[in-house]
Amino acid sequence: MAIAAGRSGGVTDRPARTGPFATKPAEALVADTQHGDGLRRAVGALSLTAMGLGAIIGTGIFVIIGEAIGIAGPAIVLSFALAGVTCVFSALSYSELASTIPVSGSAYTYSYATLGELVAWIIGWDLILEYGVSVAAVAVGWGGYLQSLLDSLFGISLPDSIAGPPGDGGTFNLPAVFLVLAVTALLCVGVRESARTNAGMVLFKVGVLIFFIIIGLATLLGGDGGKGGFSPFAEHGTSGVVDAAALIFFAYIGFDAVSTSGEEAEKPQRDLPRAIVGSLLIATLVYIAVSLVTVGLAPADKLAGSEAPLADALEIGGGYGAWAADILSVGALVAITSVVLTVLYGQTRIMFAMTRDGLLPRAWGKLSARRTPVRITAAFGLGIAVLAAFVPLTEIAKLVNIGTLFAFLLVNIGVIVLRRTQPDLERGFRVPFVPVFPLIGSALCIYLMTKLEAETWLRFGAWLIAGLAIYGLYGRTHSRLQRGEDLTQPASGPAA
Ligand code: ALA
Repeated sequence: MAIAAGRSGGVTDRPARTGPFATKPAEALVADTQHGDGLRRAVGALSLTAMGLGAIIGTGIFVIIGEAIGIAGPAIVLSFALAGVTCVFSALSYSELASTIPVSGSAYTYSYATLGELVAWIIGWDLILEYGVSVAAVAVGWGGYLQSLLDSLFGISLPDSIAGPPGDGGTFNLPAVFLVLAVTALLCVGVRESARTNAGMVLFKVGVLIFFIIIGLATLLGGDGGKGGFSPFAEHGTSGVVDAAALIFFAYIGFDAVSTSGEEAEKPQRDLPRAIVGSLLIATLVYIAVSLVTVGLAPADKLAGSEAPLADALEIGGGYGAWAADILSVGALVAITSVVLTVLYGQTRIMFAMTRDGLLPRAWGKLSARRTPVRITAAFGLGIAVLAAFVPLTEIAKLVNIGTLFAFLLVNIGVIVLRRTQPDLERGFRVPFVPVFPLIGSALCIYLMTKLEAETWLRFGAWLIAGLAIYGLYGRTHSRLQRGEDLTQPASGPAA
């Protein structure tokens, strides 16, 4: 194991044992993965890549692309490329840290080992925005697609009151709640079952997008061609391209979910980097092809306000009827289900790592007989279901984006710090040209963050302040590290 090699020149060389900048020692990270009562190593390379694609391809490409095309025009292709490049640099950094510290918890755990407890807590808290809140957001999008499919196939519409949250014409979003609770139940059963179900869904949703690309291309290349086009290309200038990139960044979020499974991967050092970078590259290629076809098929102003932009593009550009829209609706439903599954999974593993360290009540992290953290899974599932039921989530994608970009920023910095503090640590994967690549990754993250609105920054600031208050009131005094406990031993019992 990579971090075992660090015992001689390990993360503990110059540890700050107490105080907010105390780092978690290497041997404690190793021990976390070796207690017999830990999570189960059951996931192989293909399933990990499928997990990445499961978390990546969803609402962004099926829904948010419409609004982004409205902002950038046909130059949306460049926005996808810019957001994709930002992610590639961060994906390399995630790959290095995941292959060096293959422990549950992703950026939270990496920060604990490199930047100290306070930064780790902030990241863990911030990741609730990326994972937990985004699950609620995409579940709401799922409800919208379910409605339109039921209507198209059977002429059934749910009563408004149970079809959407208050502020969005309803009082309770039943479909979103149903989805979150069903996925929660599957995750409580176990990681192997969840990974298999996810792999099937990924094949299906990628197949639907390839179907869209093929019939879209056939339309563009034959007959009258589409009704869209590429001129004028960047209708709203560079700022349109960049603003759309800051929004469509949402479509890429999720490759990092692979790294939350560090402790359940069969061969983490080899497979985590492959799955992180591989799933991101596949998604980027598919996204660029989909966006090219979409803007070729229909004019930007027709797609800007659409809730089903891909289906509308086919109808406008090729005159395809309800059947094509229905196929895309089913694709979107399956896609979003797999996002909910993989992202909720990631959230539970981050929380599991935080409870194990005592920053959240340890009793929450208790594993079931099938070695699944059922309490956390059930609690998060219920909490997210409530959020999805009652909260209109129109602006939520931007809040999720800022939280994610912040986590990516710290992961890039983490690579540079760990290379300086622990140069001899065994790394399954090394980012090329350190510190240049992580610095470029950091700069791109900061750049996209500055393109998000002031209101999004204010909400983000409020979230972080709430997190700091919880750390001050609970985490600081219950942290196993701060209490001087032997972290190479399992926690003896629930924290007081
Ligand atoms: N990338 C995920 C989606 O687009 C969050 O739904």
